[in-house]
Amino acid sequence: MRKSISKMAKNILLIDDDPIIRKVIGLTLEKAGFYLKKAENGIVAMEILEKNLFNPDIILLDIRMPKVSGIEVLAKIRKQFPLIPVIMLTALTDLEIAVDTMKKGAFDYLVKPVRKIQLIETINKALRYRDILIENERLTRENLEYQHSLEKKVKKRTEELMLAYKKLKETNLETVKVLAETIEAKDPYTRGHCNRVRILSYSIAKSIGLSGSEIEYIEYGALLHDIGKIGVPENLLHKNGPLTDEEAERFHNHTIIGENIIKTVEFFEPCRKIVRGHHEWFNGDGYPDGLSGEDIHISARIVAIADSFDAMTSTRPYRTAKSVEYALEELKSGSETQFDPDLVKVFLDKGIYRVILDQINKPTTLKNRKMN
Ligand SMILES: [Fe+2]
Repeated sequence: MRKSISKMAKNILLIDDDPIIRKVIGLTLEKAGFYLKKAENGIVAMEILEKNLFNPDIILLDIRMPKVSGIEVLAKIRKQFPLIPVIMLTALTDLEIAVDTMKKGAFDYLVKPVRKIQLIETINKALRYRDILIENERLTRENLEYQHSLEKKVKKRTEELMLAYKKLKETNLETVKVLAETIEAKDPYTRGHCNRVRILSYSIAKSIGLSGSEIEYIEYGALLHDIGKIGVPENLLHKNGPLTDEEAERFHNHTIIGENIIKTVEFFEPCRKIVRGHHEWFNGDGYPDGLSGEDIHISARIVAIADSFDAMTSTRPYRTAKSVEYALEELKSGSETQFDPDLVKVFLDKGIYRVILDQINKPTTLKNRKMN
């Protein structure tokens, strides 16, 4: 059977300077089954509470007391013990003040002399209110704990995802490198070319302040820029001498073949502009689309400079490697015609070629290529 709150042993702290009131109310409450602690003023009461000498469920607090007024004690209790309802005890003359205490956090007030029925009823109401406060606090605490554990879970999952993404990125980069090596295997003169173009492109992109994800795709695009050469006959790639118009057209077609190869892979979508556009000229004289200026995607303009610089400083079937100085001069003279002048300026001013300096002027010859 469910017991009513009034019949359960509850603790009440009675604070009143009048010994008769303490005695009368005390007896009434003890008879009603409450545990009682009495305090003759606010200082004693606060000591009982602060030293944890008694844990009241309800506090009965007189308004008019010497030393510390009931209003001051109420403020302290509300601040330090917000879960304990306080019922004010007041004389009829202080009724206005008593009403005001409710705005200051008192649960209710009782006018002295207090009638027994009213006293017990008000205490029972206050006890129910306290149960709600405690339950509310428990739910708030549980909610906070849940939020905290949720945040921890989200953090853990984010870390796992970041790790998975990092692994995926590494795998992608490895896959792209393998693809790039496939191109280079077909044209051994270009060994290491794609990776050097990647390093140079990365440095240019970083120098002009592109975002991390843009730089990332420029790296992939730089590695893949000549993937379309897979579709160009080897005798054309290795031809030692000028190409006929028809051969040139077939060679130029590597940009379109390359785009067709990678467009089936969603991940490479941002690289398409590089693969298709790395032979476009800034003045519109390039191929395959004859785009000019900023109509050529910034990533393709970057890779065009990196590609040309590395091609000039590498040995090719039809010529030996040119010096760095020569390649830099060529970039300078090709500024505005073939290359984006702002990017050429960055390339020259920042000495970007230095990032691959240890790999420059060490061309792979046919002789040592066979030994590799
Ligand atoms: Fe190319």
